[in-house]
Amino acid sequence: MKIVIAADHGGYNIKQAIISALSTEGHIVEDLGTNDGETSVDYPVYAKALCKKLQQAEAELGILCCGTGIGMSMTANKQKGIRAAVLSDAFSAEMTRRHNNANVLCLGGRVLSEEQAVSLAKLFVSTPFEGGRHQRRIDMMED
Ligand code: RB5
Repeated sequence: MKIVIAADHGGYNIKQAIISALSTEGHIVEDLGTNDGETSVDYPVYAKALCKKLQQAEAELGILCCGTGIGMSMTANKQKGIRAAVLSDAFSAEMTRRHNNANVLCLGGRVLSEEQAVSLAKLFVSTPFEGGRHQRRIDMMED
């Protein structure tokens, strides 16, 4: 699967761990930066760049990482066609794909260990949307 990923300085470490793990699984992961964990950068810049890639159908799913995942999710959910979920547990990672057809996963590098972040990212990208009544509800969001 083609996946696009981006982070600010607070999410840099988990971004690197996720890129490594998903690439090893055979996914194509496009990294939009940031490129180090020391330089302070503005998360909306990265969130908007990632959402644009999804809007242009250049990737199927996106992953955004910041300190908490919250700023990234707030920004992403203001972009048309984006359904972003910030979460820190496996049940939510699975259900937001199955029921919400989330296309962006937001994770916090100051909330999760690298191992936890990788585990959630793997679950997110491997879980399908169920469609059916859930599609109707998603259509209602866009109305
Ligand atoms: C940056 O210090 C921090 O505010 C950012 O990474 C994120 O947590 C915002 O939601």
